[in-house]
Amino acid sequence: MTSPIYIIGSSNTDMVVKSGRLPAPGETILGGTFFMNAGGKGANQAVAAARLGGNVSLIANLGDDLFGRQAHTQFHKEGINTDFITFDTAHPSGVALITVDAQGENCIAVAPGANGNLTPDLLRTFFNFIASPAIVLVQLEIPITTVEFIIEQCSALSIPIIVNPAPANKILDDVWKHVFVITPNETEAELLTGIRIVDDDSARKAAQAFHQKGIKNVVITLGKRGAYWSDNMSDGFVAAPSVSVVDTTAAGDCFSGALAVALAEKKSLAQAVKFASVSASISVTRMGAQASLPSRKEVDTILHLNP
Ligand code: RIB
Repeated sequence: MTSPIYIIGSSNTDMVVKSGRLPAPGETILGGTFFMNAGGKGANQAVAAARLGGNVSLIANLGDDLFGRQAHTQFHKEGINTDFITFDTAHPSGVALITVDAQGENCIAVAPGANGNLTPDLLRTFFNFIASPAIVLVQLEIPITTVEFIIEQCSALSIPIIVNPAPANKILDDVWKHVFVITPNETEAELLTGIRIVDDDSARKAAQAFHQKGIKNVVITLGKRGAYWSDNMSDGFVAAPSVSVVDTTAAGDCFSGALAVALAEKKSLAQAVKFASVSASISVTRMGAQASLPSRKEVDTILHLNP
């Protein structure tokens, strides 16, 4: 049986300029194209998981404004359960300003708005409702004290939690031992372990540092090189399919959402990482955050050709 997936996190509207290169501090560059897209790490992960066939609920705090209502309508269209979404009359919806260069690399500044007001108090009804079997997925675009509360609640309820530590931030050392899977990229892994990932050996060392904190499973995304996984007894590297990159925005979100779907379907960690790598590799071939996220059919087609 597939477990329901509960994704707790942010929702933003992304204002994106695609340009030849990223501007330097103090510099204005001309010539880019503008897009306005649905984004936010939590919402992106929820949409990714829903498109890949997950039974998904999003728990988020939206501004009581046009952007918030547009996002809410879109979640319904994606088949996401919105019963635990709240509307905040005191804070606007989150907005992200994104520049994407010709190689698909980005730089992002986020005004969190209502996301920054997703407090433990707003989650109490949800934690009275949720029961095993379930999987929770959370990122760090909401207050860190809320993330720590979520991890502790999941531990008390014996619900496995996946933590995508993005954007990079520190969490209280005490709570790591309750984390079922962590999904950092190389930068986030370095911030949290102090180990710079430059090759296979340093990826293994960073994973061991996470295991020493008590985290059961570690999946480090390595950009176009793919991903490394370790469950502390076995480990492996999964190569990413070679693709033509247009925009890397939300690739990490796609990866974590897909990983949650695969684990909810009881796939092994190695199989789940492969499923997530293929999903993320499709997302980077298209512009935008939620706009770029693949369907299950697209992912299954590639997996069928490259088992
Ligand atoms: O991970 C990509 C996301 O980061 C964007 O959609 C933007 O909203 C920021 O949250």
